[in-house]
Amino acid sequence: LFQSVELAPRDPILGLTEQYNSDTRSHKVNLGVGVYYDDDGRVPLLRCVHKAEVDRVQAQLAHSYLPIEGIAKLNRGARELVLGKDSEAIKSERCVTVQSIGGTGALKIGADYLRALLPDAKVAISKPSWENHRALFEKAGFEVVEYPYYDPETHGLNLDGMLDFLKSLPAKSIVVLHACCHNPTGVDPTPEQWTEIAKVVQDKELIPFMDIAYQGFGDGLQADAAAVRLFVEKGLNCLISTSFSKSFSLYGERIGALTLVTDSAEEAARVLSQVKRVIRTNYSNPPTFGGAIVAEALNTPELFAMWEEELGEMRQRIKEMRSQLVNKLAENGVNMNFDFVMAQKGMFSYSGLTAAQVDKLREEHAIYAISSGRICVAALNSKNIDTVAKAIASVIKG
Ligand code: LMR
Repeated sequence: LFQSVELAPRDPILGLTEQYNSDTRSHKVNLGVGVYYDDDGRVPLLRCVHKAEVDRVQAQLAHSYLPIEGIAKLNRGARELVLGKDSEAIKSERCVTVQSIGGTGALKIGADYLRALLPDAKVAISKPSWENHRALFEKAGFEVVEYPYYDPETHGLNLDGMLDFLKSLPAKSIVVLHACCHNPTGVDPTPEQWTEIAKVVQDKELIPFMDIAYQGFGDGLQADAAAVRLFVEKGLNCLISTSFSKSFSLYGERIGALTLVTDSAEEAARVLSQVKRVIRTNYSNPPTFGGAIVAEALNTPELFAMWEEELGEMRQRIKEMRSQLVNKLAENGVNMNFDFVMAQKGMFSYSGLTAAQVDKLREEHAIYAISSGRICVAALNSKNIDTVAKAIASVIKG
């Protein structure tokens, strides 16, 4: 049966972590995967998560099945977080939210559902995009194309290129947009640019699929949701994939949500019935623990306030690391201007390192980065930043 099976390539992100884990050099640093580490190099257990966990364990609850769509309180919280509590779309009950297996699971449920609804649609992703976007939508059966996004000359957004490309797409093409903290570049459109993007999406009758995996890591929970809210306020139907992996530091719990914004409560009920079929035939219903923790934190004012504060601390530490990296590269004799790193949002920096420089960093310095040059700034800390800056400077200087 398996004789002719070929060896698949390693996953560009998680495969790198496998390689990192088997590296025996004690000074190794993983700047590959998008994970936030604290200043001691540990994945933090957030105080709000710990409190909710203890409460749950003390309640001594049995482990029954969840409904196919997951925990109602979580879904309501996730929807309100991204659309805002006062959202007209929520009040008129035209949104559907289902719990998902992380943000990736939300994308997958959405992709499978859209494929049934629009079998001939193209999916447009940004150039570059998160490595898994293309693979995930292709696996769902779509043709995936790329819209221009990043301009390496300016280290900024190629807005004209992006808009021209979007205008050329057939109506009902699906456009995957990073709602904030673009992965991998860290380059986000300004509010004015988002207005232009939303206008083209609306005029050309495109379907926005908004991926929001880093809400709270850019400018704050509310500010980071502005693009999604703009699209919804314009009356667009859209899909929104939320991840709580990073924002609650609950990576292994695989907790996220998919929200679909429809035209009416009656339409929403029909859409939910179909999305539930996608879930039922994939994994039946979601796991409980992570969802219950996030549901509690989103719906208990004391825990929510604690969470917002902790998220703020993570955001500030990443900004501090960006600034130290820029300064230390200069101190190590790099004469290229790295100020663009300060303007990038979220966990990542598209550093401009070439694939060959990334290889050299890994082979000679035990520092792991994605071959595109993406580095996870959230993995830098006061103990490793000098080594990392020195190593990056040495590979840049050749
Ligand atoms: C990343 O981009 O590193 C994260 O989203 C983790 C993943 O699943 O790829």
